[in-house]
Amino acid sequence: MWFSNFLLSNEGVLLSVFLLLLIVYHLRNKNPKDFPPGPFALPFIGNFQIVGKKHPHIYFNKLAEIYGNVFSFCFGRDKMVIVSGYKMVKEALVTQADNFVDRPYSPMGDRFYSANSDGLFMSNGGKWKAQRRFALSTLRDFGLGKNRMEQCICEEIQYLQEEIEQEKGKLFRPAGLFNNAVSNIACQLVMGKRFDYSDHNFQLMLKNLSEILHLEGSIWGQLYESFPGVMKRLPGPHNKVFSNFNKVREFITQEVKSHKKDLDHNNPRDYIDTFLIKMENLKETDLGFTETNLVLCSADLFLAGTETTATTLLWALVFLIRHPDIQEKVQAEIDNVIGQTRQPSMADRPNLPYTDAVIHEIQRMGNIVPLNALRVAAKDTTLDGYHIPKGTSVLPVLTSVLFDKTEWETPDTFNPGHFLDADGKFVKREAFLPFSAGKRVCLGESLAKMELFLFFVGLLQKFTFSVPDGVELSTEGVYGATRVPEPFKVHAKTR
Ligand code: HEM
Repeated sequence: MWFSNFLLSNEGVLLSVFLLLLIVYHLRNKNPKDFPPGPFALPFIGNFQIVGKKHPHIYFNKLAEIYGNVFSFCFGRDKMVIVSGYKMVKEALVTQADNFVDRPYSPMGDRFYSANSDGLFMSNGGKWKAQRRFALSTLRDFGLGKNRMEQCICEEIQYLQEEIEQEKGKLFRPAGLFNNAVSNIACQLVMGKRFDYSDHNFQLMLKNLSEILHLEGSIWGQLYESFPGVMKRLPGPHNKVFSNFNKVREFITQEVKSHKKDLDHNNPRDYIDTFLIKMENLKETDLGFTETNLVLCSADLFLAGTETTATTLLWALVFLIRHPDIQEKVQAEIDNVIGQTRQPSMADRPNLPYTDAVIHEIQRMGNIVPLNALRVAAKDTTLDGYHIPKGTSVLPVLTSVLFDKTEWETPDTFNPGHFLDADGKFVKREAFLPFSAGKRVCLGESLAKMELFLFFVGLLQKFTFSVPDGVELSTEGVYGATRVPEPFKVHAKTR
């Protein structure tokens, strides 16, 4: 009697609805047979213990120790598969390249892009292939492989050196300068011009970019990806991602407009010109050669090409200042091979094996894209014996590769020896994957490597970097879509 009374009461109705929802949720979200194991996920909110973790990539490494190299994890209601360790990440990205080449749906991406215009980073299928091929060939035409890009980087190094010299050895923040210098290379490529370090509007644009990347990887970004319906209606920092992205889009739209005014069909100056010409010649729009998509692809190149390389250069300062003996050894090698006045060139790289090894170790330990970007299973497949159904999001974690205990002699120690043989010659390492791997490997890898080498050598040729006595630079990093060093100031003593 009391039970039927309870069921008819307000509390009873509420409890019944809740239980019904739980049963529906359970039936809908039941794991398929042989799905990878993972930590217990709460209904509706999933494994929300990740929220508030300062370093999710380290947390994932710990989960891999418990559940193995292929395990499942729930962001909100979305179940995804996390892939860890060099061998398994290579299996997913290289051996099964076609199965995991696409990006999954992203609520945030959905607001940046549209069905017909989804840029370079988020596009899939024929449109992605056409846009990627076009971007790579434009990159080649504008200098990669020839020395035009090299010259452009060397010119920028001179501007950067002059700017640093003006600090006269006093403490300064290198982040803004490095961002501007590196961004100028992407700008030369995309829009054929550079921006002066004193250009206030451009500085604001760069601040926008940094904020986008920081917020995308923050708890706010994670909440938006998991609960877009709710987060869209709530105030909070996540809204800044969209307003900042609109500013970047507007900035590039203006560039496209001015390019259209003085476009010379026989003499394309940059990516925007080449795209505009392609658009006129190719009437098909389903390959993404539209003006809206031009703006979005340019924004992707600008975003991906700025913060990543600039952040790696900041990590370079952190590690060299923490290891002054290594800084000295790099400078001695540069002095010996290039001297202090001639500009560096890519032809010098084979003669600077120690310097090259140090740059690689900075990229490994800097680990600037710790989680990598998401992929999605194009069809039902198997990883490590587990069933991965079509449509499952897959995250091949780069931290787990760059710090894989079975691949690196001293994974947690800064050790340029990882890239040197017994005779001091540079050696490539298979598990060096900061740019990811497979068909969707970083599109700017060659450009980034050229920039890192030339900027790094150009900086150490001219300056010795240090911090005041008693200051120790942290290697912990601040986690966003990229992992950046905590803000710091340095002295740059002219050599
Ligand atoms: C140190 C510098 C850099 C690092 C560590 C880096 C790393 C990465 C990573 C991990 C990805 C994801 C790949 C995947 O999904 O498997 C990526 C994608 C991408 N990167 Fe980079 N990147 C760097 C510099 C650059 C530069 C300089 C550019 C362009 C000028 C660039 C353009 C892109 C683009 C367009 C994509 C998307 C590729 C696609 O989806 O097909 N990156 N990058």
